Amino acid sequence: MSPSSHRGRGAQGDHELWRRAPERLHFPETGGEAPWDTWRSRPAAQQPDYPDPAALREVTARLRSCPPLVFAGEVDDLRALMGAASRGEAFVLTGGDCAETFAESTADHLRLKIQTILQMAVVLTYGASLPIVKMGRIAGQYAKPRSNDVETRDGVTLPSYRGDAVNSFEFTPRARIPDPTRLMDTYHHASSTLNLIRAFTKGGYADLRLVHHWNRGFTANPAYARYESLAEEIHRAVKFIEAAGVDFDSLRDVDLYSSHEALLLEYESAMTRIDSRTGLAYDCSGHFLWVGERTRDLDGAHIELLARVHNPIGVKLGPTTSADEMRGIIDRLNPEGDPGRLTFITRMGAERIRRVLPGLLEASKADGRPVTWMTDPMHGNTITSSTGYKTRSFDTIMDEVRGFFEAHQDAGTVPGGIHVELTGDDVTEVIGGSENLDDAALGSRYETLVDPRLNHQQSLEMAFQVAQYLATGA
Ligand code: TRP
Ligand code: PEP
Ligand code: MN
Repeated sequence: MSPSSHRGRGAQGDHELWRRAPERLHFPETGGEAPWDTWRSRPAAQQPDYPDPAALREVTARLRSCPPLVFAGEVDDLRALMGAASRGEAFVLTGGDCAETFAESTADHLRLKIQTILQMAVVLTYGASLPIVKMGRIAGQYAKPRSNDVETRDGVTLPSYRGDAVNSFEFTPRARIPDPTRLMDTYHHASSTLNLIRAFTKGGYADLRLVHHWNRGFTANPAYARYESLAEEIHRAVKFIEAAGVDFDSLRDVDLYSSHEALLLEYESAMTRIDSRTGLAYDCSGHFLWVGERTRDLDGAHIELLARVHNPIGVKLGPTTSADEMRGIIDRLNPEGDPGRLTFITRMGAERIRRVLPGLLEASKADGRPVTWMTDPMHGNTITSSTGYKTRSFDTIMDEVRGFFEAHQDAGTVPGGIHVELTGDDVTEVIGGSENLDDAALGSRYETLVDPRLNHQQSLEMAFQVAQYLATGA
C-alpha cells in the first residue's frame, strides 16, 4: 500500500523498493511483521511448494502496493446483511464455479454466471419474502485444495493442479510447477471481473423487470411446468409493480458481493489492508472469505489469519465435525459473538445431514453466540458416474437442501442461505433435473477442471424448489 513504492516505476531500483516489503515500513513496532502475519508461525496446509522463494517475495511485495479489490465500507455492509440472515431477516445465495479459470474469465461467461445468480435471486426473493444477499464464488475463486499432492497419468506423476492461481491444468512438468507470478494474474483477473460485476449490477442490466423477463424464458419450457404456478405468481407481482408505476432505484440496482476460499496465505495476507477510518484490518481480496474443510484446523495458519481480519468469514463444516470443534471455531473467530461475523457452511452429504446437523444446532443454541447457517449441498455428494465422470445428482443435492431446512425447523434455528457450485453455461456435469441428464450425457459438455457444477437450467430449478421450501416449509 505504500504509495512511494509506485513512484520509481520503470527505474532499476524498482524491485529493491518492492522487496523492502511495505509492511516493514508500516509496522516498526512489530519488527516489520504486519499484525495479521502471525499465521506464519502456524502449520499451513495445502500451500503450493514454490521453487523460488525470492520470486514469491517479489510478487507479494507488489501485491501489497496494489489498490484493494474491495472496500471496507462494502465489507461492513455485507457483514450487517449476514447478521440479518442469522436472524431470519434476509437469506443468502452464494453461487459460482468450483474453480474459476483465467481462460473463462471472459465477458460472456461472467455475464451468464451473473445472470444466473440474479435469476435465482428473483425467485428466492419472492419465495422468502425477504431480501436476498447475492454473493458469487467469483472474482477470486482461483485456488483449490486437493486431496492428493500429486496426480499420476499413464505412469507419469506430477504435482496436482491447484487452480489457476497456482499452476496450469495442462499435464506437463513445466505447467504444473507452482508459479508465483500467477498471484499477480489472480489479482488482475479478480479486478477485471469485479469491474464487470460493478458495471452489470449498477448499469441497468440487473433491473428486476429485465431479470424477470429472462425467467419467463425458463418457465416457458414445458419441462418446468411444475413451477408454473409459482412463476405465474411472480409474474403477477412484477406486473403489479409495473402497473403501479413503481420506479425506485432499488428495482434497478443490486449489490453482488464477491467471495472465495481464503486458501493461499501469501496472497490473502498481501491483500490485507488497514482501514484508515477504523484502524481495523480487512482482507481486501474479496468481501466474504471462507476456510475449507481441509484447512480449518483450529491451530492452523488459515484460522489464525482470518481471526485477524474484520471481514465476514465462513467455515465449511463436514460430517465429522463435533460440537466441541464447532465451539472452538466460534471461540477463535467470533469470541464476542458479533452478528454476521461467522457463517457455518455445512456440507454433510444428503445421507448424513439429518443425523449430524441437529447436534451442532443444539450446541450452537446452547452457546448463544450468533451464527449464520448456510448449506453447501454439493461437496458431501460427489460420486463417480458409470461413465467415469466426477458428478453429483440433482436429486441428492436437493435432498441435502431439504435436510438442512428440516433440521433448522426442528431445532428452531434459522436456515440462512445456500452455497452452490454453478455456471451460467449449458454444461453437463450434474446428473438429473427435469431435463434428466444421465450418465451417458455427461460426456457431451463436461468442462469443469475440478468439481461438477449445476448448469443454468438446473440452477434455476433449484431456486424454484428452494423458493417453495422458503414459502411453505420443506
Ligand atoms: N435491489 C433489490 C434487490 O437486490 C431488487 C432487485 C433489483 C433484484 N434487481 C434484482 C432482486 C435482481 C433480485 C435480482 O433485492
Ligand atoms: C469447495 O468449496 O470447492 C471446497 C473444496 O469445499 P470443501 O472445503 O467444503 O471441501
Ligand atoms: Mn468444489
